[in-house]
Amino acid sequence: MKIIRTLYDMTEYRVRQRDRGASVGFVPTMGALHEGHMSLVEKAVKENEVVVVSLFVNPIQFNNAEDFEKYPRTEEEDFKLLAAAGVDAVFAPTASEMYPAENDNCKEYKLGNVAEVMEGKYRPGHFQGVARVLDILFRLVNPHRAYFGEKDFQQIAVVRNLIKSEGLNVEIVACPIKRAADGLALSSRNARLDSEQRQLAPEIYATLKYSVEYSKDHSVQATHDTVVERIDAIPGMKVEYFEIVDARTLQTVDEWEESNWIVGCITVYCGEVRLIDNITYRLPN
Ligand code: PAJ
Repeated sequence: MKIIRTLYDMTEYRVRQRDRGASVGFVPTMGALHEGHMSLVEKAVKENEVVVVSLFVNPIQFNNAEDFEKYPRTEEEDFKLLAAAGVDAVFAPTASEMYPAENDNCKEYKLGNVAEVMEGKYRPGHFQGVARVLDILFRLVNPHRAYFGEKDFQQIAVVRNLIKSEGLNVEIVACPIKRAADGLALSSRNARLDSEQRQLAPEIYATLKYSVEYSKDHSVQATHDTVVERIDAIPGMKVEYFEIVDARTLQTVDEWEESNWIVGCITVYCGEVRLIDNITYRLPN
């Protein structure tokens, strides 16, 4: 497995692969890899001749300095996991390589209404930071396909808009959420939970699953409220937002009949640690 640190070497690698006609799959990550990330990597390895994974804790998508500092970094272990999975190249640049000071132009990406709600509202600047790093990475790696997890449901919608507005030529492959045996969505941030919090955190998904049953004979508002009340009643947990939205527009729905594809997206503070998850209420046939 090739470890690439510079934009120059990444460009050279990509040109060589594309020149020989290889199909290229790309999995962008911030490292601290777990089975959620690895499920994307495994799919990419199956579907492409060459797979590139990026490991880069992108400073400009963090709107909280402490969250950035405390974000887990496990590069050596990540390299081992990726090599064992059959990845061809890892791109792991420094921040100054990705963002040289002289290029500090703050372009505003057109990401549409899907970027204004939920994470967009609670983490100002977050999606502009995600868009900027992916714009650079997509142009650099120039993959045929890029793999994203549905755990970050809104991120996928934003990335689709980025691709349209920037005229990028890459197919987005959405992959299902990987969970621990007790239901907790795998996340690099789970490593920051203490043992008590880790024991309580699966209640988030348990409540979401319960709410799917509950929704069958209750309104959207009642379903929303029951989720928030149940999670807020767990010691040390606080819902930041829970929104029941049309999966395409990400705008909230008032009635179950309003859309044939409805998801509930939640963010919960478990102590200091911010966890996200989502669940499907309605899916088109
Ligand atoms: P990161 O949080 O490292 O996630 C990288 C990819 O792994 C994302 O597409 C995310 O949705 C997916 N992923 C994380 N946990 C998952 C799980 N439990 N099941 C399935 N997929 C999961 O998302 C980012 O990094 C960054 O915003 C990035 C796109 C790399 C831009 O910096």
